[in-house]
Amino acid sequence: RVVAVIMVGGPTKGTRFRPLSLNIPKPLFPLAGQPMVNHPISACKRIPNLAQIYLIGFYEEREFALFVSSISNELRVPVRYLREDRPHGSAGGLYSFRDLIMEDNPSHIVLLNCDVCCSFPLPDMLEAHRTYGGIGTILVIKVSPESANQFGEIVADPVTNELLHYTEKPETFVSDRINCGVYIFTPDIFTAIQGVSTQRKDRALLRRVTSFEALQPEHRSLPSDFVRLDQDILSPLAGKRQLYVYETMDFWEQIKTPGMSLKCSGLYLTQFRFSSPHLLASGDGTKKATITGNVYIHPSTKVHPTAKVGPNVSISANARIGAGSRLVNCIILDDVEIKENAVVIHAIIGWKSSIGRWSRVQASGDHNAKLGVTILGESVTVEDEVVVINSIILPNKTLNVSVQEEIIL
Ligand code: GDD
Repeated sequence: RVVAVIMVGGPTKGTRFRPLSLNIPKPLFPLAGQPMVNHPISACKRIPNLAQIYLIGFYEEREFALFVSSISNELRVPVRYLREDRPHGSAGGLYSFRDLIMEDNPSHIVLLNCDVCCSFPLPDMLEAHRTYGGIGTILVIKVSPESANQFGEIVADPVTNELLHYTEKPETFVSDRINCGVYIFTPDIFTAIQGVSTQRKDRALLRRVTSFEALQPEHRSLPSDFVRLDQDILSPLAGKRQLYVYETMDFWEQIKTPGMSLKCSGLYLTQFRFSSPHLLASGDGTKKATITGNVYIHPSTKVHPTAKVGPNVSISANARIGAGSRLVNCIILDDVEIKENAVVIHAIIGWKSSIGRWSRVQASGDHNAKLGVTILGESVTVEDEVVVINSIILPNKTLNVSVQEEIIL
């Protein structure tokens, strides 16, 4: 049997995702019309003999209660949210629920970061892991050498796929193969985490009886039950025939900023074209608007037949899209109103916002630039004939003059 665990973090983690994470936990922000964490959950559903999916985080219980009950019913697989009382790190969080996870007596534990966007080739990884042996297999991808330092960099044996060297976000270039935050482990991972924790406790004890701390200040700060998967577990286990890599040739991105969520929404829409084409809007449906490329429109949303929508547009529940409006590369959240002849390009429009007649909300479309995507927080009003370019507007603002390259607080 297999148990899947998705690390969802907590409110102090998704800060680069503001202002969108002010309203909703980042893992529940919709990409291609589904909460971010739905995508890895759907991927877990394809694992043979899956017993259970746990989401581990330090958000309040109630923030995930409705989501886990509805997704459990929908997919007919038990999904539970487990709350840490405080952050224990990516491995410490997993370890704190080891007894519960082991109740199903799993042979393997699939561990996923919630803020990555990929095709999650989990059945293939499991198969590869069975042939490699060892305690874990890590999904890796080749990225450009310039971007590799934002991730864990990996050196593996090209023949055996053994992980030989691991460094987390190094300052000098090590490798263009990086850690995707998707893992298969055997339950021995708990022994490895326990080992780090015990080592920390011993050091703390030593510190109390000697002046060890003064000599080795780097060991001072972390509590014994705070364990990071990357630095504390993967790095020391490299080169010990315990960890292996599985390289994906498919898409992979990390979702730390609103701009990246727009890009990833597009990647998932493209995936739907093959996996679930019924979820995509088509121009000859009942809505009759002109649809270009991959577009998701929630069934409760009203789109005027003269609107032009797409490519890469995702529109959530109860939005109203007016006559003659044009939407390109954007996420429109619940209860938004886009009035007649308004244009939205490279933007995310927050819940209950309203875009006036003949207004334009747009950006350059560079997903990595801070202001490459225009973001409107919740309940922002853009009045008629106002232009908003490359800007971030915090919730509850009304714009009656045009703005460019601004962050409106
Ligand atoms: N429950 C819980 N508790 N989750 C946590 C905690 C914690 O204390 N700390 C982090 N997480 C979750 C985050 O929400 C995220 O899903 C995942 O664990 C990893 O987060 P970080 O530890 O902040 O690392 P990162 O996202 O900067 O980088 C990691 O992922 C990259 C791939 O996206 C590293 O493993 C990199 O090497 C890797 O390339």
